[in-house]
Amino acid sequence: MSDLIIDTMSEKDIDPVLSIEQASFKHPWSRISFLNELSNKFSHSFVLKLENSFETYQIIAYLCFRLFTDEIHILKIAVNPEQRRKGIAFKFLKHCLGTFCGQKIKSATLDVRQSNTAGIGLYKKIGFDIKAQIPNYYSDTREDVILMRKNFLKEV
Ligand SMILES: CC(C)(COP(=O)(O)OP(=O)(O)OC[C@H]1O[C@@H](n2cnc3c(N)ncnc32)[C@H](O)[C@@H]1OP(=O)(O)O)[C@@H](O)C(=O)NCCC(=O)NCCS
Repeated sequence: MSDLIIDTMSEKDIDPVLSIEQASFKHPWSRISFLNELSNKFSHSFVLKLENSFETYQIIAYLCFRLFTDEIHILKIAVNPEQRRKGIAFKFLKHCLGTFCGQKIKSATLDVRQSNTAGIGLYKKIGFDIKAQIPNYYSDTREDVILMRKNFLKEV
């Protein structure tokens, strides 16, 4: 990740984040959703910036999770469609989870749609296990939700 920089997401990042969001999810978060997330006291949101020449950068991915005492709950991660399948999400998520290793975090959890093979593959590669599958969870498609968990006491 030599030309990549991880930064805390701020209000000025929301436009590029929204454009990745809209290209990534059928039901994207709105600007207000991101603003609410940034102001939530449990929230940790990061952007991944690709540095180019002339000291400018492009946001190519973002990650939002919440930290409750000793547990992380991942809300979402997305990568610009043009930058996918290059190992970016894996390195980004691994790095961000790794920075919390020393903080007595016991586990990380998340939920993901059954049809999201890319997301499930990413999370499995990071070390998440499937803990439950709840049928017909989503009201739009009636598809199942997959609940995943990673024991943080193991190395991230
Ligand atoms: C899921 C997502 C973040 C993965 O980003 P990425 O940078 O392309 O992922 P990586 O290149 O780091 O891949 C890591 C692993 O994820 C899995 N994976 C990623 N894309 C995949 C795909 N299209 N199909 C199947 N598995 C996939 C693979 O296991 C991959 O490991 P491998 O390369 O050794 O096979 C990206 O596809 C995305 O932004 N999707 C839309 C948003 C989303 O669904 N987010 C997850 C739920 S919140």
